[in-house]
Amino acid sequence: MPVVLITGGTGLIGTHLTQMLAEKGYDVIILSRQFSYTDHKLNDIFKNVKNKGATVEFAYWNIGKGEINKEAIAKADYIIHLAGANLAEKRWTGKRKKEIVESRTKSTLLLVKILKETENKVKVIISTSAIGWYGGDTIESKKSGFTEDAPANKNFLGETCSLWEESIQPVKQQGKRLVILRTGIVLSNDEGALIEFKKPLRFGIAAILGNGRQVTSWIHIDDLCRIYIYAIENNINGVFNAVAPQQVTNKKLMLSLAKLLRGKYFIPLYVPSFLLKLVIGEMSIEVLKSATVSAEKIKSAGFQFLFPSIDAALNELYRKG
Ligand SMILES: NC(=O)c1ccc[n+]([C@@H]2O[C@H](COP(=O)([O-])OP(=O)(O)OC[C@H]3O[C@@H](n4cnc5c(N)ncnc54)[C@H](OP(=O)(O)O)[C@@H]3O)[C@@H](O)[C@H]2O)c1
Repeated sequence: MPVVLITGGTGLIGTHLTQMLAEKGYDVIILSRQFSYTDHKLNDIFKNVKNKGATVEFAYWNIGKGEINKEAIAKADYIIHLAGANLAEKRWTGKRKKEIVESRTKSTLLLVKILKETENKVKVIISTSAIGWYGGDTIESKKSGFTEDAPANKNFLGETCSLWEESIQPVKQQGKRLVILRTGIVLSNDEGALIEFKKPLRFGIAAILGNGRQVTSWIHIDDLCRIYIYAIENNINGVFNAVAPQQVTNKKLMLSLAKLLRGKYFIPLYVPSFLLKLVIGEMSIEVLKSATVSAEKIKSAGFQFLFPSIDAALNELYRKG
């Protein structure tokens, strides 16, 4: 069976992707900073995958020390590069920002180096990036969405994405096909943004962020993982936005979620921008930013979304969750 090596494969996207890859007949190697996993949820997921006949192995790397399991690299046919310090986990202090950038650039440089030095059969590398690449909406982007040729925004996330995407480019000189996915906010009922959005609903509150008019570019986790697999199985190259075709305002997203989970029994509450800034600091700029991102390029490459609209996505997640 073809082997897919996933860096950072123990996170939200990686665990879901591992299950989908196994269902499609791929073996998976997870490149991780941990030697072994004691997490029950993760172990259950991987046991389930093994029951389907696929193999899931762990391989170790230590980015700081430049150590990486070379046999794992030699076995891989495809690499999916997801590793990076979580953007939402902690406040963006100077130290955390450095960690956010370096966990991406240094891990990428280590991959590039090892691929150059080790005999390998890797054909394709799919590296993640984020729609933090783009700035706030312009008149043009409001109409057709930001396309992949737009320049990187000149703020922390824009510059992070730019360094991240630049650091993986040398693999092209090694003859590898390179795909970069600028990913929107991933909607899943396991972890991530949706879980945070749902929390106030326990108290009957639909928390609309800022004035709620900002556009949130999102994607259902199944569609995102399907794009990763599509990129493995089809000869596509370069940067693609991984966002759903129908974007929504924050208000529409929060109210749709509230209606699904609470029926008519909720109160919409606007969380003022200054309060968000106080609580989450610089990260609030991203939460409040309106960025309409286009899905046209990946659609034109032949990818078909299962969940193009927020109602379809939330209905499916809600039905499962
Ligand atoms: N979820 C989203 O909404 C979203 C949106 C846009 C882009 N992305 C990007 O997609 C990638 C995967 O997202 P995710 O939601 O699955 O993230 P996640 O749940 O935070 O998982 C990321 C994985 O990266 C590894 N990691 C964490 N800190 C690290 C560090 N300091 N150095 C090296 N590796 C580290 C961890 O694996 P080990 O502990 O096993 O090493 C972790 O499981 C990330 O790069 C993220 O920025 C995600």
